[in-house]
Amino acid sequence: MKQASGTPAWLPFLPMDIPAGNSSAQLARSELAAGLAALASSQRVELEVKGADEGYDILLREGTLHIRGGEPGVLYGTYTLLQALARGEPAPLGNYRPRYPLRMLNHWDNMDGSVERGYAGGSLFFNNNRLAYDQARIHRYARMLASVGINAICLNNVNVRPPMDGLILPPQLDDLAGLANLLRPYGIRLLVCVDFAMPARHEPGTADPLSPQVQAWWALRAKQVYARIPDLAGFVVKADSEHRPGPHTYGRSHAQGANMLARALKPHGGLLFWRCFVYNCRQDWRDRQTDRPKAAYEHYAPLDGQFDDNVVLQIKSGPVDFQVREPVSPLLHALPQTKKALELQLAQEYTGQQIDLFYQAAQWQDIFRQLPPGGADYIAAVSNLGDDESWCGHDLALANLYAFGRTAWRGESLPGRYAMEWAALSFPEAAGEITKLLLASPHVYEKYAAPLGLGFMVNPQTHYGPSPEGYEYALWGTYHRANHEAIGIDRGPEGTNFTAQYPLHLRQRFERLTTCPDRLLLFFHRLRYDQRLADGRSLLQRIYDDHFEGAQEAEALQAAWLELAGRVPPEVHARVARRFEMQVQNAREWRDVINTYFYRKSGIPDEQGRLIHP
Ligand code: GCU
Repeated sequence: MKQASGTPAWLPFLPMDIPAGNSSAQLARSELAAGLAALASSQRVELEVKGADEGYDILLREGTLHIRGGEPGVLYGTYTLLQALARGEPAPLGNYRPRYPLRMLNHWDNMDGSVERGYAGGSLFFNNNRLAYDQARIHRYARMLASVGINAICLNNVNVRPPMDGLILPPQLDDLAGLANLLRPYGIRLLVCVDFAMPARHEPGTADPLSPQVQAWWALRAKQVYARIPDLAGFVVKADSEHRPGPHTYGRSHAQGANMLARALKPHGGLLFWRCFVYNCRQDWRDRQTDRPKAAYEHYAPLDGQFDDNVVLQIKSGPVDFQVREPVSPLLHALPQTKKALELQLAQEYTGQQIDLFYQAAQWQDIFRQLPPGGADYIAAVSNLGDDESWCGHDLALANLYAFGRTAWRGESLPGRYAMEWAALSFPEAAGEITKLLLASPHVYEKYAAPLGLGFMVNPQTHYGPSPEGYEYALWGTYHRANHEAIGIDRGPEGTNFTAQYPLHLRQRFERLTTCPDRLLLFFHRLRYDQRLADGRSLLQRIYDDHFEGAQEAEALQAAWLELAGRVPPEVHARVARRFEMQVQNAREWRDVINTYFYRKSGIPDEQGRLIHP
């Protein structure tokens, strides 16, 4: 097997080899024994297992700690206790219940072993068009997930094409069942992405959701899959999106398409996750009527109430596509009668690709603050993992996975707390400094890569590095329309009226220049370069300043990391130092390209006379 073994991530105090266990309770016992021994703790701990609940309690009775919970609750409780002890904290007594019943990682892995938008090597699961994995490494992966309460994974890319569709057919299905068995003691359930058009390539000869043959075909597929994997959490579908087929191909609605698949899963207790990433990906840049952020709401809001109760609409956190800064997706406010999953992206597609440091929890906190009460019913995140030695390409990017698990469990993002917890576990000798680096990182990146809410100034296809007009005359509907005096799209009532999709309080906040946060200014408004901002600076001066500062602050992050030599393992130090070298280069490139671009457009010089390239 070609794969590296992976680092111990944030659990360096546990032995790399995991004692086998057929159930969560067994696993909890052996992990507890191994962990207490490794931490040289004399604390007496007893496990009380009952039921199949995910929740757990940690209690102290006459000097003995009790972890009381079901399968896999006791395992979660064990990890919570061990992590607290490893950080030198008192026993974390309390009652613990997850906010979301499904806390899912979406891998975008292809069966040839590549990973769509993967920045950490190849797939952990696939090679050569079949499931092929290093068992020991998958145990470590599962332990890592369980230690923060992630309880479901969808293995394969949302863009399903043959032969990947064969994953739910024998003989691949046997391999899949084997993997499900391996993950089960960790409390992790599988999901698979399926191709809506698959029955068109089989006996039905069509994928029309209203065809009885198609319905029967999917019902049989589901039955066969559940016979092998009785606890499969369900299917994930990307339909009528970015050239994928879907119900529209047959003149049917997404409610008709989703319900058809959901009914196949229903007898087995499965959920159907239907992604809402639907927009016109062939927009003509001359078309000023179509505004991409409006698309998902326009499509799905009218369908509220038409979905079966095991359909879950999976909605990206923002209305566009995981940009550095976006407002919350208005669709998350618009579906009171529909089950919803919030989709985040750990893979840093637009935020530095696990080369540049970008700790995401602050971004999520911003999104959570804009969610309606109750928010979503489920939570999912696109994985940032691969078969790379350090799991994520960047050792510090593991903090995002950790923070996602914690956020999904608690239903809130606490950036400082999760960063500190993660750093104290991973790098106890340098925890304070690394926490500071993590917390600073998204602001630094945002300064040099996303002026005031503008997105997509990235190189087309790769999405790394600056290209201010890379998408400006392209098909994807992501335009900023900069000219010599102004930039941005007016999305208020005088413009595309996107803001009308929000509930009143958000709508007013975004529409008024005085209340729209600076970081979203150019998402919602078209402004002249000489527009004065609240702090007195002109819009353009702010853009120049941010880019000069961003590049400088990237250098400061690098310098702070170099100071930590000797306080983190040398191989980690060297790996991360190489990443920071690349980040500093990238930040300089962004600074110079963006500043020069605006200088050439506007002819307005930097007030401080810093170097721009005319
Ligand atoms: C982005 C990404 C694609 C991905 C898509 C999705 O557009 O660039 O690679 O397939 O999101 O979420 O479906």
